[in-house]
Amino acid sequence: MGHPRVDAIAREAREAAAAAASSAELERVRVAYLGRQGLLTQLLRALGTLPPQERPLVGAAANEAKRALEALLDERLAAAQARERRDARARARLDLTLPGRRPPLGVVHPLTRVHDEIVAIFVGLGFAVAEGPEVETDEYNFELLNLPPDHPARDMQDTFYISDAALLRTHTSPVQIRTMKAQRPPVRIICPGAVYRRDADVTHSPMFHQVEGLAVDRRITMGDLKGTLELFAREMFGPRSRIRFRPSFFPFTEPSAEVDVLCFLCAGGGCRVCRQSGWLEILGSGMVHPQVLRNVGYDPEEVTGWAFGMGIERIAMLKYGIDDIRLFFDNDLRFLRQFA
Ligand code: DAH
Repeated sequence: MGHPRVDAIAREAREAAAAAASSAELERVRVAYLGRQGLLTQLLRALGTLPPQERPLVGAAANEAKRALEALLDERLAAAQARERRDARARARLDLTLPGRRPPLGVVHPLTRVHDEIVAIFVGLGFAVAEGPEVETDEYNFELLNLPPDHPARDMQDTFYISDAALLRTHTSPVQIRTMKAQRPPVRIICPGAVYRRDADVTHSPMFHQVEGLAVDRRITMGDLKGTLELFAREMFGPRSRIRFRPSFFPFTEPSAEVDVLCFLCAGGGCRVCRQSGWLEILGSGMVHPQVLRNVGYDPEEVTGWAFGMGIERIAMLKYGIDDIRLFFDNDLRFLRQFA
């Protein structure tokens, strides 16, 4: 056509443009031939160095090649850009029919669950929830509950002392004292909370939880205590559940009783869980000692009351057949997930 050198460059440029697969590659081809240092640009710029008779021929051929290449690149670039926009849209498109990712769901801790169940049962009977501090005085934790210093019954509870006068409460019973000191009878409360003892094995943890119950009014009897706990046992362990009272001793109650629930595994026949006795101990209880009533300014000739204390871990272990108390505090998800 025009000039052999121009033709060679033009052919090479067309091939490069044909091979370019993306707008970025096409841009590189444009720079290589038409940019400020591009081959065709340089050729046109060097026209003046050619012999005069060659200039018009080479010049015309180079300009023609430049126009043709520009047109080819524009066309290919438009196609490449359209393709790239399409690909980008396809990549960004959301498939709204895909099922969502489920966020992992936690479960209520078994102790919280049993705590909530116990509280709900007594709240349903008209009891109010009362709370007290975990750091207690010796006076509230022991003395006003009829456990004077050096009383041998203090050995029943290995205590974490903070000073001679302050300790981590060993039971929720001091909340009885706090409540009775703050209000006149009638009193109907339950007191859930953490308690502490120097004790650790498969059934004892240095920190555990209790729920205390207290009812004081005119003419409250042990029959009321029994009726209340029978209802509690049926709600907690099932409608066929039965309880029995066993004489016991606590300094703050007289008489005192430990309460057993009929073993729900063997229904009284005897098994491993109840150690062949047919019964499972669930709590301590009794009629509030007249001295405790006097200690809080109540008149034992006028009012009587009953109280009980139960361990939330113990109830949960019996209810779910858990044989190691430490499982509650290890936070092993394989254990916790079973309560979903
Ligand atoms: N405070 C006792 C304990 O921790 C449990 C208890 C027994 C509480 C008898 C009571 C009660 O209120 O009347 O071992």
